[in-house]
Amino acid sequence: MEEINLFSTKIYKTHIDKNLYNHEELINTIEENYSIDSVRSDISDFETNSHNYYNDWNNPKFKKINLEEIEKIYGQKTHEFIDTLDIVIGNWKAFIVNVHASMPGQGIKPHGHLPAFYSSVHYLKLDDDHDKIIFHSPLTINQFASSIYDMSKIKNNLNATNFFSGWEFEIKEGDMIFFPSYLMHEVAGESKSNSLRISVASNIHI
Ligand SMILES: [Fe+2]
Repeated sequence: MEEINLFSTKIYKTHIDKNLYNHEELINTIEENYSIDSVRSDISDFETNSHNYYNDWNNPKFKKINLEEIEKIYGQKTHEFIDTLDIVIGNWKAFIVNVHASMPGQGIKPHGHLPAFYSSVHYLKLDDDHDKIIFHSPLTINQFASSIYDMSKIKNNLNATNFFSGWEFEIKEGDMIFFPSYLMHEVAGESKSNSLRISVASNIHI
């Protein structure tokens, strides 16, 4: 039967080879900064108890981070992404907004990235035992999904996400995902891994 995919939430995933940029240097700087203070979160735009560079890039307490190489790659990937979307007319701009580093117990509470158009997150360091990003359904009714539907009758697969309140999917280190900025998401802080989880978030504005 013909499928008409109305109001769907499209998420795109690509991968960045870590040999194409100063991966080791970035990890070392972020680990060093994390060891100075595991909590870096003087932030009013979202709630977190982890180590974030958001609006704090020039804090003299920490070592400066060299994002030049990775910014170029993000630029190329974002170009590719915008071309794939095929809905943007005219200019757009994209920039890094946060580097997030966390250990077990540290996360970011549910938040969105409006007024950006789309946002991206790239995983510099992600083990199988690390938290995966959890996306919340933008459909208002799905906040109450489990009390409305008999969830045992709905298959737990990607075709059924319209009936779930939230979703997390397989993400590996080096992956970069693009998502609509209105889409609420969180990092639960339930990692089991004893190594640092590191991600870089960017916003695209049109
Ligand atoms: Fe975010």
